[in-house]
Amino acid sequence: MKLQGKVTAVTGGAQGIGAAIARRFFQDGARVAVLDTNAPKAKAVAEECSTAGRVGVAIECDVSERASVFAGVERVVKECGGLHVMVANAGICQVRPFMQLTEADWDRILAVNVKGVVFSFQAAAQHMIETQTRGRLIAASSIAGHQGYAMLAHYCASKFAVRAVVQACAKELAPYGINVNAYCPGIVATPMWENMDRQLSQMTGAAPGETLKKYARMALLGRPETPEDIAGLISFLAADDSVAINGQALLVDGGIVFV
Ligand SMILES: NC(=O)c1ccc[n+]([C@@H]2O[C@H](COP(=O)([O-])OP(=O)(O)OC[C@H]3O[C@@H](n4cnc5c(N)ncnc54)[C@H](O)[C@@H]3O)[C@@H](O)[C@H]2O)c1
Repeated sequence: MKLQGKVTAVTGGAQGIGAAIARRFFQDGARVAVLDTNAPKAKAVAEECSTAGRVGVAIECDVSERASVFAGVERVVKECGGLHVMVANAGICQVRPFMQLTEADWDRILAVNVKGVVFSFQAAAQHMIETQTRGRLIAASSIAGHQGYAMLAHYCASKFAVRAVVQACAKELAPYGINVNAYCPGIVATPMWENMDRQLSQMTGAAPGETLKKYARMALLGRPETPEDIAGLISFLAADDSVAINGQALLVDGGIVFV
């Protein structure tokens, strides 16, 4: 129960990696708030993360809108009595050839994947600074934040940007005792990858599921990662043992990218 007494918030916690992080935090003893655009699914995860005296909270929130994130964090603090860990996990992906990318495609990806992290960090850090909470800010980057991949130029740009935000933010918030890190998953079997598999197979004619398997074979792990594989690292980053890790973007990709 290494997070006992802590309040944690997970954006994009209604499914996939975010839901696994929420469940893991709950197992670790934390109070869990799930912030997501998908209110019914967020509610279901929050209910799973509830027990007598430690009730999970679901908050409808769009991370691309600053006011929505600040209002969401305010509710977390009010309903849970504080905030110690913010995981800015919400993200979107789109498969599209570079020459077909529109301005709207770029704006949408950057709004959710980059501004979403910025707003989540700002809202959480504001509370942490005011209350002198030595908190943790953790963001979703990706192997696509370390290397460019075809058909994903805007997604890759957004995930490289997350690493920059994390480094700058870590340097600014260190005096307040706030640690800021990112996690960089590889090929994780979630609804996001199901969608990517569908889009890529439409382009290449591959059978459903084949593209996911093909990409997963790049990893030393030899299989797609599970959301729980990622949640293990986040549990570590949220807890006291990781206090000396700051400003990093840690690869948790089963062995695809080597730095
Ligand atoms: N799945 C992978 O292989 C993989 C690899 C590397 C990085 N990532 C990153 O990990 C994170 C989680 O990915 P996933 O695979 O679990 O995705 P997913 O699509 O399965 O789940 C994403 C969740 O975010 C929510 N969301 C989307 N836009 C939102 C918004 N504007 N505001 C609030 N919530 C919003 C969705 O409703 C959903 O619940 C993302 O940032 C993704 O880019 C995923």
